[in-house]
Amino acid sequence: MKLSEHLADYDSDVRDTILQIADTCVRISKGFASRQSQSDTQNVYGETQMALDKWADQVLIEDLRESGLVKYLASEEQPDILEFDSQGDLGITLDPLDGSSLIGVNLAVGTIVGIYKGGILMPGQMMVGALYVLYGPLTTLTYTLKKGVHEFVLDDTGQFVLQEESIRIPEGKIFAPGALRKNYLAGHLKWIEALEADGYKIRFSGSFVADVHQILHKGGVFTYPGLVGNEQGKLRLLFEGNPMGFIVTEAGGATSDGRRSLLAIQPNAVSHRVPIYIGGKREINLIENINKEGYE
Ligand code: AHG
Ligand code: MN
Ligand code: MN
Repeated sequence: MKLSEHLADYDSDVRDTILQIADTCVRISKGFASRQSQSDTQNVYGETQMALDKWADQVLIEDLRESGLVKYLASEEQPDILEFDSQGDLGITLDPLDGSSLIGVNLAVGTIVGIYKGGILMPGQMMVGALYVLYGPLTTLTYTLKKGVHEFVLDDTGQFVLQEESIRIPEGKIFAPGALRKNYLAGHLKWIEALEADGYKIRFSGSFVADVHQILHKGGVFTYPGLVGNEQGKLRLLFEGNPMGFIVTEAGGATSDGRRSLLAIQPNAVSHRVPIYIGGKREINLIENINKEGYE
């Protein structure tokens, strides 16, 4: 089944926006070889932008502006929410390219998208849906519009065709622990030690979207925690935590900032950073229970 057929029964603006993003991402997937260099600019987070970060951002913004379907657009590569002339009221968040520092070593990177109605700065639980495209040995598109999580693969004819429907996160003993151990907060360290004692194996590539994709399919948990001296951590609620957390939650998993679901958090700005835990309910309940016991 093709992506367009799978989306047939959904709201036409949402369906057409997803199909537009899918087309743009196919174009992005062909643009890597000639855009591997670093640019001489930084984003609002002080991170050096890869040429591909900026190009992917530009093509996605232009295509979505021209579609006339999108009213609000927030991108990790833009300082503020963009507002377009549109009859519709869809809000889109973009991490145009997540994991881009890994392009030079040919590891999987991806495009992460959140879909909202009537705005963007609202808790993630109010999202209409979310999707990500993963550029790896396969180019896959995984989406949810709150009726299950479904994965498509780009075939030889350039079509996204159904690979797996109604994905459920299994139980699995792998974990993707971002950041430096020496900076762990006490509760997080206690949690990591509990996972290690229980035989969890590290599977961490440094690409959030690829690491969470692996957790979705094999179980376990991804974390980029709050740290000593940096309690909000590194990853962004709007561009990374909410869309991927929404998808994993829809697949039967859960998300947390260590105390409550990411999807319940009211963003204070597009740049809102949060500690991130995304994975199986078991692992998420464990960190929240440890923190409730008062381990700061
Ligand atoms: P982005 O490329 O969109 O900036 O995201 C990079 C993020 C995320 O993909 C990954 O989990 C994290 O950076 C890794 O950070 P460190 O390099 O600090 O471990
Ligand atoms: Mn990112
Ligand atoms: Mn990015």
